[in-house]
Amino acid sequence: MARVAFIGVGRMAQGLIESFKRKGGIEDCEIVGTHYDPTRCDTLHRVLQIPMLSSNRDAVRDARYVILCVRPLQLLSVAEEIGDLIGPDQTVISIAVGVPVGKIRQRCPESGPIFHVHPPSLCMAQTPGMSFVANEPTATEDDIRRVEEIFRKLGFVMLVHEEDIDRFAVFAGASPAFICQILHEWRGLAREAGIEKGITDEIVHYMVRGIHIAFDGDDDIKERQHFSLEEIIDRIATPNGVTRVGLGVMKKRNIHNFRGALKGVAEQCLQKIGKIRQAVSRQ
Ligand SMILES: NC(=O)c1ccc[n+]([C@@H]2O[C@H](COP(=O)([O-])OP(=O)(O)OC[C@H]3O[C@@H](n4cnc5c(N)ncnc54)[C@H](OP(=O)(O)O)[C@@H]3O)[C@@H](O)[C@H]2O)c1
Repeated sequence: MARVAFIGVGRMAQGLIESFKRKGGIEDCEIVGTHYDPTRCDTLHRVLQIPMLSSNRDAVRDARYVILCVRPLQLLSVAEEIGDLIGPDQTVISIAVGVPVGKIRQRCPESGPIFHVHPPSLCMAQTPGMSFVANEPTATEDDIRRVEEIFRKLGFVMLVHEEDIDRFAVFAGASPAFICQILHEWRGLAREAGIEKGITDEIVHYMVRGIHIAFDGDDDIKERQHFSLEEIIDRIATPNGVTRVGLGVMKKRNIHNFRGALKGVAEQCLQKIGKIRQAVSRQ
């Protein structure tokens, strides 16, 4: 049976494997994973119910897809370790941020198409999300379609140029964590205002769910309107009402700080990817 080998099962690979298993797997392949530590392999085998190998080289033999899931600065040495075993019938997918496909190609010269995919970080929370797929120029339409189909199981897939993937990694991949941090701070302020913990959790729950349904619609409610972000704001904020006061404060005093802080978040994340790229380019 052909296999899909997830090389370096950590947080992301674990989330991906669980998501793919829930969605019926990947093509007709057996999913296997690797970790260099045999004890970790035993634990992951129990948790994920898949074969776990401590040898990356054993895992890639007969693999139709090799999905490289180690951290960026570990990736090229792993590619070096397995590169000579990967042939033209095997597709390599790297999910490592900031590692150019060309660098992997140097270590896997005979490999079939190599892709850089930024998968949905939300799959770690068992939720669909967006995947961004960048291919080598030599990949055929069929190669691309197969990889697209795999990641479509996890939500929306967008084909992008490799040079654009960093921006998507920050503005789509990392952003759920930023929104959660904002909600976490807001919940903290509610606690400081004397609202008890169980209730503050409910507030966040209904806020997130309410925004989701208002923005996205609800399959259970026919002919439901979808509201843009601006429309949601406008509908909540009655003229001269309480919400307007809060929005006014954001506009007059803090919006620059708030927007500036978010801008700083995005800029520093992009700089971090730039630093990874520099470190990888020296490898
Ligand atoms: N986190 C995200 O939301 C996200 C989103 C998109 C893409 N990514 C990319 O996904 C990749 C993995 O991220 P992650 O958060 O899952 O990191 P992680 O939890 O550290 O997973 C990587 C795993 O690979 C293991 N490993 C290291 N060297 C190995 C080797 N030679 N052979 C086998 N296993 C090895 C690591 O063990 P040790 O910890 O002992 O080194 C670790 O358990 C990164 O390249 C990241 O850029 C992450």
